[in-house]
Parts: sequence; structure tokens; C-alpha cells
Amino acid sequence: MNGLADKRVFISGGCGDIGRAVAARFLTAGAKVVLGDVLQSEEGVRVAEALHSSHALYTPCDVTSASSVENSFRIAEEEWKGIDVAVCCAGTVANEPFLQITEAHWERTLNVNLTGSLRVAQAAARLMMKNAPDERKRRGAVIFTGSWVQSMPWPEGGSYCASKAGQEMLMKVMAQELAPHGITCNVVAPGIVYAGLSRAIYDSDAVFRQRANQTIPLGRLCSAEEVAGAFLYLASIDGTYVTGTTIVVDGGASLVRRDLSSH
Ligand SMILES: NC(=O)c1ccc[n+]([C@@H]2O[C@H](COP(=O)([O-])OP(=O)(O)OC[C@H]3O[C@@H](n4cnc5c(N)ncnc54)[C@H](O)[C@@H]3O)[C@@H](O)[C@H]2O)c1
Repeated sequence: MNGLADKRVFISGGCGDIGRAVAARFLTAGAKVVLGDVLQSEEGVRVAEALHSSHALYTPCDVTSASSVENSFRIAEEEWKGIDVAVCCAGTVANEPFLQITEAHWERTLNVNLTGSLRVAQAAARLMMKNAPDERKRRGAVIFTGSWVQSMPWPEGGSYCASKAGQEMLMKVMAQELAPHGITCNVVAPGIVYAGLSRAIYDSDAVFRQRANQTIPLGRLCSAEEVAGAFLYLASIDGTYVTGTTIVVDGGASLVRRDLSSH
């Protein structure tokens, strides 16, 4: 994809499975990447080193703390003199039946997945405002990691679905407000990815596994690498005119299925 060479990319949750896959694709396209993650520093540095590029950097970043987010963007700015692309990828999940959702789990999920994305997107957009517009008048791109369940209820996913649905609306409001400043805002909404959050549940929970297998018309879970391309598209020249929308990469999971009895 064109227009990614030398782009400065910040990825929150960048040490996770999807974050790493996105980082690897950006690096291959010639971009510079900062992985911001809540992992212990040594582990974060190890993840960045495993990408085998002098253009991959780790910085501690806890999206539940405004000062931590600001500090990690300060480090990114010192290192790369600014940011062109921000990917909000930090995420957490706690699936539980609606009647048993605890306030602690609800608040934690919203704090990481929704308010955390606000903190990262705000810090990123403030930096992007300092960028000179490119030839297509773009100053920067903010890309949220949503989920197909931001629009489709998933059983026992009350807090997670609500957090991702809220994030999608936040993206739309941001897109509207920041368009005049040349900042595009979009969501990439993966389906069920055999990675990170879902992989652990898929491998350990037979009910989830059966539901997941029945849900995807393409008949298999997605890989982290298969999701990554959508992020690059939105950050590339081809994505310059795309703002305020969601790219769903879900193998058709959002299609309502009425043929399950024949399977
Ligand atoms: N795996 C899936 O099926 C799937 C599907 C749709 C959307 N997603 C979304 O993709 C994103 C990445 O998920 P993943 O599957 O790669 O999981 P993952 O667990 O591998 O990655 C999540 C990363 O977020 C980091 N993180 C958690 N809390 C944080 C905090 N407070 N501050 C900073 N970083 C924090 C974790 O350390 C981890 O590196 C999440 O937003 C998730 O909701 C995943």
C-alpha cells in the first residue's frame, strides 16, 4: 500500500497479538512504530526487539491513566518528532451473563476499551494538529480497533459489546469534528480472531468454541495478520478520503444466519 513509508505510527496495546501483527505490517511498509503497552518494560522491549527493526520502539503506556498516555506520546514525539497514525488497540474482555455482570468488570472494561481509546485518540489528535497537511490535506489518521460485536449482541458480552459500541460513536463524533483539520478517524472491526483475547477463551471454553464455529459463514476464525491489512489501508494514500466509518473484517459473522439447522 502506498504512502506509508516513514509514517510515524503509535499503537496502544501494541504488544498484543493483533497490535504486533499490525506493527509488523506497518514496518514492512517502511513506517516507524511505537508500541505502547501496559506490559512490564523488559517484556515490552523484548516484544519490540522481536520485530527485528530499528524502527520499532516500546514505551510503557497504561491507557487507564491520562498521565501515562501523555508520557508515552511525549516519548514518541521525542523519538520520531511527531505522530501520523494512531491505532487504539489496547483491549480487555470479561464475558459474563447479564444478571451477573459486576460493576468492577463493567468499569474496568469501559475504562480500558472506551475511555482508554478516548485518552489515546485525544493525545494523538493533539499531536497531529501540529503536522503540516500532506498533499491531500491530511494531518493524521486515528484508527480504533472495534469488534463486529459493537453492532451485534454476543451472549454474555454486555460490557464488551457496550464498550465497543460506545467507541464506534466516539469515532463518528471525532471524525466529524476533526475532518476540517485533516484528521481521519475510523474503526477496524475484526470478527473472531484466533489471537489474544478470543484465542484464550476459544481454547478453554467449549460453549464459546461451539458458538464461534457456528457463527462464521466463512467457516474459520480470522488470523491477526488477516485483520492487519485494513489498518494499513486506512492509513495509506488510498484511505485518505475515508473517514467516520467502520471496516468490518468478520468472515460474514455479522450476517444473520437462518440456515443453522442444516449444519
Ligand atoms: N481477538 C479477537 O477475537 C478480537 C476480535 C475483535 C476485536 N479485538 C480487539 O483487538 C484488540 C487487541 O486484542 P487481541 O486479541 O490482540 O488481545 P491481546 O490480549 O493479545 O492484546 C491486547 C493488548 O492490550 C494490552 N492492554 C490491556 N490493558 C491495557 C492498558 N490498560 N493499557 C495499555 N495496554 C493494555 C495488553 O497488554 C495486550 O498487549 C482489542 O481491542 C480487542 O478488543 C479482538
